[in-house]
Amino acid sequence: MTEKVVLAYSGGLDTSVCIGWIAEQTGAEVIAVAVDVGQGGEDLEAIRRRALACGAVEAEVADARDEFATDYCVPALKANALYQDRYPLVSALSRPVIVKHLAAAAKKHGASTVAHGCTGKGNDQVRFEAGIASLAPDLKCIAPVRDYGMTRDEAIAFAEVNGLPVGTTKANPYSIDQNLWGKAVETGFLEDIWNGPVEDLYSYTQDPAAPREPDEVVITFTSGVPTALDGRPVTPLEAVLEMNRRAGEQGVGRIDLVEDRLVGIKSREVYEAPGAIALITAHQELENVTMERDLARFKKGVDRRWGELVYDGLWFSPLKRALDGFVDDANEHVSGDVRMTLHGGRAVVTGRRSGESLYDFNLATYDTGDVFDQTLAKGFIELFGLPSKIAAKRDLATPRQL
Ligand code: ARG
Repeated sequence: MTEKVVLAYSGGLDTSVCIGWIAEQTGAEVIAVAVDVGQGGEDLEAIRRRALACGAVEAEVADARDEFATDYCVPALKANALYQDRYPLVSALSRPVIVKHLAAAAKKHGASTVAHGCTGKGNDQVRFEAGIASLAPDLKCIAPVRDYGMTRDEAIAFAEVNGLPVGTTKANPYSIDQNLWGKAVETGFLEDIWNGPVEDLYSYTQDPAAPREPDEVVITFTSGVPTALDGRPVTPLEAVLEMNRRAGEQGVGRIDLVEDRLVGIKSREVYEAPGAIALITAHQELENVTMERDLARFKKGVDRRWGELVYDGLWFSPLKRALDGFVDDANEHVSGDVRMTLHGGRAVVTGRRSGESLYDFNLATYDTGDVFDQTLAKGFIELFGLPSKIAAKRDLATPRQL
């Protein structure tokens, strides 16, 4: 029986060429799978038809936008996930949902192999292959661009010779990846890290410096999940889409980052993630109000580790799964409203209220109504400082040798 290969298909030049290339190199039949994670652009049916026109024996498309928002973006929000404190894991989050659809298609069609269009220099190859290894350890992985050294010029030539319906007229100098959670742009003149980003890189955000009226939004969370905007109930997908629009209009969420890739190199990437940055800002603030101090302090470390695991392609790993349990539990009481002003590229919290708040006015106030017993502070500090005091006495008695 002819071997079958399931290809992660985007509809672009590289993966369109991969269809014929894989068939030529391996003799296998290629099944193209395209997953809509909110990248916009063409409709799925057009992409499906192109895959067939490029020689796929079958082509499947999946609208995974709700799934991506609920099962991938929301967990990232609960973990305030920002790699290197800044990058909200846009591409890193989409790979596992694509992997899930690839593994399911491979099972359905009895394929032995999964293929993707990544190069050998990035993180996404790791995310695809480590993800497949976790979900379907018997599947093989191939990456034609990396493994058969397919260059862009060869891809264009292959498309021309074989009359593939891929427009190569206007070569984009950038490598772009985008989805609901944001957009990533690299290469081109950005590879000189002294060069500033130019306005036409951006499509999710307006110029934050342009004069305009501020926008005010109230975001409601229920156990860490955004459930209403300005009092209107929303699904996670709707929350992300609406916040992308409103925060994007105010230029929120532009990020210019030199980041540490898993493969060891530093690379420069320009991101825009207006909805993600606004939602994470609001969520972090609601945690400040509702989360007990030690839990909040500990969670910061868990959040960082969670983000690194996901960045490193270990979404389906046992450690990531266990941390999900912690993050979910920690979010139990993260419910309430956060009011934010969106303006000039910033999302600034101006108010918070919560039925689960740990902020106690009567403990915090310096005015009448104060119930905090200040006489207790003296003894508390005496004991709290005691270990340092004992150590200091010893150190003063035995001065350090110079
Ligand atoms: N550097 C980001 C990551 O590893 C984005 C990768 C895809 N970026 C791109 N411009 N094609 O998650």
